Amino acid sequence: MKNNRITDHPVLGKIEPRNVISFTFDGKIYKGYEGDTIASALLANGIRKLRVHEETGHPRGIYCNIGHCFECRVTVNDESGIRACMTPIQADMIVESGKMEPDPLKSEDGATDLPRTYADFEKTYKRMEKEGDPHV
Ligand code: FES
Repeated sequence: MKNNRITDHPVLGKIEPRNVISFTFDGKIYKGYEGDTIASALLANGIRKLRVHEETGHPRGIYCNIGHCFECRVTVNDESGIRACMTPIQADMIVESGKMEPDPLKSEDGATDLPRTYADFEKTYKRMEKEGDPHV
């Protein structure tokens, strides 16, 4: 088991022995300690990328580690949107990295994207008006 933990802290002392439990992350088996959060167990195993950004696909991971930013969203036992930094790891838990979700404002072909800003809306409206769209 990879262990990126501080086991002997100069102020806090040695880490107390705890029960080791197994869980899976993206189909691979890892070990963590009882009392770990999903985030701390994954970090201790050297995993920093918890999901990808929905639009850019850029890697995301622990940011605030106090439950505020939702950057650490993962899927746990088929329930998506779980904050890894706030959720205790449990034996045999199935954790999956956040996947790129479909953007509700984008169409499959990109031709009929809904406007995101007022300027986008104006452009779309003018285009529709020019094309004689009956909805204008
Ligand atoms: S890292 Fe910010 S909510 Fe988990």
